[in-house]
Amino acid sequence: MAVPAKVVSVAPGIYWVGVEDWHRRVFDALIPVPYGTSYNAYLVVGKTKTALVDTVDLGSSAELLAKVSAIADPARIDYVVMNHAEPDHAGSIPEVMSVAKNATLVATEKGVEMARMQYQVPEKRCLAVNDGAVLDLGDKTLRFVSAPWVHWPETMFTFVEQEKVLLPCDLFGAHLASDRLFDDEVGDALLPLAKAYYAMIMMPYAKMAASALDKALALRPSIIAPSHGPVYRNPGRIMTAYETWTRGPLQNKVVLTYVTMWGSTQRLAQAAASGISAEGVEVIPYNLEMVDLSHLAADLVDASAIVLGSPTVLGGPHPLAGYALLLLRTLRPRAKLGAFFGSYGWSGGALAQTKGALEPLKMVLVDSVDIKGPPTEKDLERAIELGRNVARKIRGGR
Ligand code: FEO
Repeated sequence: MAVPAKVVSVAPGIYWVGVEDWHRRVFDALIPVPYGTSYNAYLVVGKTKTALVDTVDLGSSAELLAKVSAIADPARIDYVVMNHAEPDHAGSIPEVMSVAKNATLVATEKGVEMARMQYQVPEKRCLAVNDGAVLDLGDKTLRFVSAPWVHWPETMFTFVEQEKVLLPCDLFGAHLASDRLFDDEVGDALLPLAKAYYAMIMMPYAKMAASALDKALALRPSIIAPSHGPVYRNPGRIMTAYETWTRGPLQNKVVLTYVTMWGSTQRLAQAAASGISAEGVEVIPYNLEMVDLSHLAADLVDASAIVLGSPTVLGGPHPLAGYALLLLRTLRPRAKLGAFFGSYGWSGGALAQTKGALEPLKMVLVDSVDIKGPPTEKDLERAIELGRNVARKIRGGR
């Protein structure tokens, strides 16, 4: 027996026709997605025209088309709106456009360029739209809102005016495959997932995300239906969270990442952590040998300081610490306070290279402890003092 195509009504005439990817465990060859993800596509059926807003990844085209068929003949889709060109949402465009032979692809000007390059959509089948452009579907109007860099330069939102449903693609998403589509059905598990998603996808463009948030707020949507994870029937829930993550106050919190080979750096880490705690500031330690990147990234969203511990290996930081530094430069957290501790056997180097790596982030190195050999009692006291200094700096800045 064939499994019936699951289609969910989001609002009158607007249907979720997306695909849940229960088995995916890594995204972009980097991001852990322990609960899978979904590729949300939406069919908007107007009195005179039908639009498919976003598609799904390449391997799921058949499932998408089966779901569309449950509502309308896919061959009669008039518009395929591409809010974003990344293949998890646009990978099925060639197949959809070949079935919907008369459909026009709608995207920003940059989006059209990408659709032509990535998906070989002929120019005559593309319609480039500017910020504020509208498309009449009969009793429904799609308004397009330019929202660059959430997540690529071509991204935009689609807003269904009559129903006030915002389809923002990646913005406001979460990596979660679930048989429950709406945010209130998922409960408290949702926001930590949305925060980890924000950290890995949006934090590098936090200013653009804040500006996109302003555009979303101005639309006063009644529903926000992103392209990954649940649909928000309570849009205030995710917009308030984005307000905090993009520009809210940082927390009295230190992310302390470290790697150790023979235990010296770990002992310094424990000492530094106790110094931070002693000043009443929260410390979240991450041993880089076994870190879950999405947890670390989520904590970077609102941490006030980042402390790195690493032994010197071959004249520089341990490769795992080097990876952490690269990750910081990629994710660009808002914390501007840093510190370093570590040990070396015969010559240092990790500290100098860490300083250089932090420069582009404009982080201030509050303190550093770089010792030769295993830590003595005096060294451990210095590490405690380092922790205290970082914590005091945080508290003093408030
Ligand atoms: Fe979900 Fe940037 O793609």
